Amino acid sequence: MRSLFALALTTVALAAPSGDSSNNQKSSHETSKAAYFLDNDPAGSSIVSIRIDESGMLRDSPVRTSTRGNGAIGMNSTGFKNTADSLFSQDAVVVSGEMMFTINPGSSTIVMFRINPSDPYHPTMVGSPASTIGEFPMSVTYSAALRTVCVMNGGAKAGVACFSADPFYGLKPVGPLRSIGKAIDETTPATGPPGSASDIFFTPDSSAVLVTTKGDAGSTPPKQGYFATFPVKNGKVANKPVLSQISDILMQFSITWLDEFRFLLSDPAYGVSILSIAHDFTLTELAHTKIPNEVAICWTSYDPALSMAYAIDVGQPYLTKINPSSGAIEGRINIDKNLVGMFDSSILNDKMYSLSGVNGIVVTDLVKEKQAQFLDLTGFGERAFYQGMAVWPKM
Ligand SMILES: *[C@@H]1O[C@H](CO)[C@@H](O)[C@H](O)[C@H]1NC(C)=O
Repeated sequence: MRSLFALALTTVALAAPSGDSSNNQKSSHETSKAAYFLDNDPAGSSIVSIRIDESGMLRDSPVRTSTRGNGAIGMNSTGFKNTADSLFSQDAVVVSGEMMFTINPGSSTIVMFRINPSDPYHPTMVGSPASTIGEFPMSVTYSAALRTVCVMNGGAKAGVACFSADPFYGLKPVGPLRSIGKAIDETTPATGPPGSASDIFFTPDSSAVLVTTKGDAGSTPPKQGYFATFPVKNGKVANKPVLSQISDILMQFSITWLDEFRFLLSDPAYGVSILSIAHDFTLTELAHTKIPNEVAICWTSYDPALSMAYAIDVGQPYLTKINPSSGAIEGRINIDKNLVGMFDSSILNDKMYSLSGVNGIVVTDLVKEKQAQFLDLTGFGERAFYQGMAVWPKM
């Protein structure tokens, strides 16, 4: 267990004039890695930090840091609180450089933390929680080039709010609540998954902000979901989006960028698609991949080092490998079937860290193509509250 006390001892040891102190210093910096998720607790939320060791395993007790606000749990279509995926979203927690962003869905606020590279397990809030102007914020995105963070509100008062992110003063609102019109008609807290908001993302070149909302594959006739695209002009996110639909995409969920102009999109109605965005922001579906036996593929991830994308199913105990050029299925990586499936996920050094279908985090080795660890969190908190997954360092 690496306590503050142990860290203090390390510091003392480094300060002492021992022969190999420079080596110690180097390794202590190189080994500070962390995974984060949001404990979206209606009675008071926190960011949970877990140490990742040299071999990529999760170590020590998870650490809670208050987000100074409350969580909120989405409702299913029969009026019960969702038992997992409380926000129906990807990207509830985002890390960029030494900054981290997340939301308080029950307080309708967004918060910014600074990550200390020598102690990433105790992020410190920068400034105060800022109002998201809407209700039920559920996904965030950050553009380092624009120093701007945007948040999607997925509740009865829905839409996008943007903020300038100052590393010392925190978040300042920029512009109004930007409606996405008929692309969403929700309650607070949101009801879903059908009809709920899913993900928000700056394009890699920061030329637009993209929002996905789900239709309903189970209705008659089936309803298509939407893409809402807000162009960025002169560093400012437009107030009105362009709405678009693609006929064979019904419940667009997560966006994962594959390169500057192409992204992988999940749709729990069939699997995944690869889409491109043109300079005029037109979206084109390049590949439409039906994944056999899928239950609900909601999350996606991409490992540029392995040049492999992953489709993540909440109801199947495996990752489906997706060719990032063609969209073709390249095989499976199995995990323990007692873990049911996987939710929010993030990749660091060819290991994937995923919230599992039961109360814990599964680590998958993407090179050896097998499960490397399951960290049981039953003594720590309530599975229903866990949402989002991010890792540090991440540029
Ligand atoms: C909603 O949740 C309740 C309680 O977990 C469950 O019994 C019910 O089947 C769920 N409804 C739907 C439509 O998933």
